[in-house]
Amino acid sequence: MSNIILIGFMGCGKSTVGIRLSYRLRRIVEDTDKLIEKKTEKKISDIFKEDGEAFFREQETECVKELLFRKEEMIVATGGGLPVRAENRVLLKQLGCVVYLKLSPEQILERVKGDTERPLLACENPLLRIKELLGEREAFYEEAADLVISADGKNMEEVLAELLRKLTENGCIAGGEYHEDSGD
Ligand code: S3P
Repeated sequence: MSNIILIGFMGCGKSTVGIRLSYRLRRIVEDTDKLIEKKTEKKISDIFKEDGEAFFREQETECVKELLFRKEEMIVATGGGLPVRAENRVLLKQLGCVVYLKLSPEQILERVKGDTERPLLACENPLLRIKELLGEREAFYEEAADLVISADGKNMEEVLAELLRKLTENGCIAGGEYHEDSGD
């Protein structure tokens, strides 16, 4: 019935939830970071290093604009900073039903620990950085979102079940549109 866009902080599970949801809805899933890496033929960490964050943010806006031209219904996982730009929040609303996957700083840290591919968290005190950035971004996530799913203390099955229920209640997917999980 409409595209489903997953937003939220780094490590909140957007990509994984996106893939699992794509099995359940039999839709393709796109990931803005992956699309940007493909287009620029560079890893995100190298884009930040070589071209700077401002260039990356331009790429994000371009990427959402390009997705607006797609005809098929998709699930879109987005980079954690994408909803910060006001223009992007407007574009996301045009793209479809926006779901904010909410997670506490402590659980975010658990999930991103040891990850070297997230330049914004490559610092001495990542928990503090997560708290600062989340503090700056929370209001933007809330503003952009049609639905909020709190993922704290929930496993993937529970997050998916809540997501499917809320998407149905909000008319983002038709009742019965989803399929059983094949488990893989
Ligand atoms: C970023 C999040 C990353 C990626 C880039 C910047 C951010 O995506 O877009 O490193 O500003 O929060 P994930 O949220 O998929 O980690």
